[in-house]
Amino acid sequence: MRCLEGRVALVSGAGNGLGRAIAKALASSGAHVHIAEVDAVAASRVAAEICEEGGAATGHAVDVTLGQDVAALLRAVDVAHGRLDILVNNAGMNVRADFRHLSEADWNTIREVNLDGVVRLARGSFELLRRSGNASIVNVASILAEHGMRQLVAYSTTKGAVIALTKALSVEYAGFGIRVNAVCPGFVETAMTARVLRIPAFSKALVDKTPMRRFGRPEEIAAVVVFLSSDAASFVTGATLAVDGGMSAQL
Ligand SMILES: NC(=O)c1ccc[n+]([C@@H]2O[C@H](COP(=O)([O-])OP(=O)(O)OC[C@H]3O[C@@H](n4cnc5c(N)ncnc54)[C@H](O)[C@@H]3O)[C@@H](O)[C@H]2O)c1
Repeated sequence: MRCLEGRVALVSGAGNGLGRAIAKALASSGAHVHIAEVDAVAASRVAAEICEEGGAATGHAVDVTLGQDVAALLRAVDVAHGRLDILVNNAGMNVRADFRHLSEADWNTIREVNLDGVVRLARGSFELLRRSGNASIVNVASILAEHGMRQLVAYSTTKGAVIALTKALSVEYAGFGIRVNAVCPGFVETAMTARVLRIPAFSKALVDKTPMRRFGRPEEIAAVVVFLSSDAASFVTGATLAVDGGMSAQL
């Protein structure tokens, strides 16, 4: 249960949804969790929840698209711990639009959060992760990285790039004691998906396409992130793990 005792973790977008569940699971496994979240109130709320439950967490108001925010966050982690053992790139967003109508501004925003934010944190934290000697990056991609869905072309494109980044970076960082993996969640009800998953016909169609015949729970994604961050996954790098109830395995 306490497989991450004494580790230092950073989770982006941890104020809600999957990130919140990931932060809580890392904390209950013994890590001190830094919550990097654009919504300052949510960052403080989740940090307080973890501390009330007996864990250790610090909230930071951070927009991963802003270099100065990320630099200040990493300086704070450096001052507090001098190293980083676990980085979870979870912050993400989506704008549903037909590709032919997607504005350049929306494309830029989706790319800046879902891809450039991952790049910024993975590059900026290199020295802190190297000092760990036993570090892990987990990038939260999506089954939509490899499967298409209407009005989600830009989202899929950024998530596909995150998987390419994960594999390429795992090769480059391996010599520094840093593993790099990705999880690909299927459908989980969060603020990002609630509106569409509550449309009965749409929801039924998705469940029908899922061999396990249900949506995932945030805790089920978080458990896999804990595994990939722990010594139980000490020989796992460059891997992409679907956590989707079998959806991507089904023809
Ligand atoms: N929910 C799903 O079904 C699902 C499926 C596959 C992948 N994912 C991925 O999981 C991750 C989490 O999604 P979720 O469903 O929990 O969404 P969510 O909207 O519930 O949570 C996303 C969090 O990221 C934060 N965030 C957004 N932009 C940010 C920025 N610029 N800087 C810092 N924080 C920012 C938001 O404020 C929010 O707290 C995303 O990368 C998403 O693409 C989700």
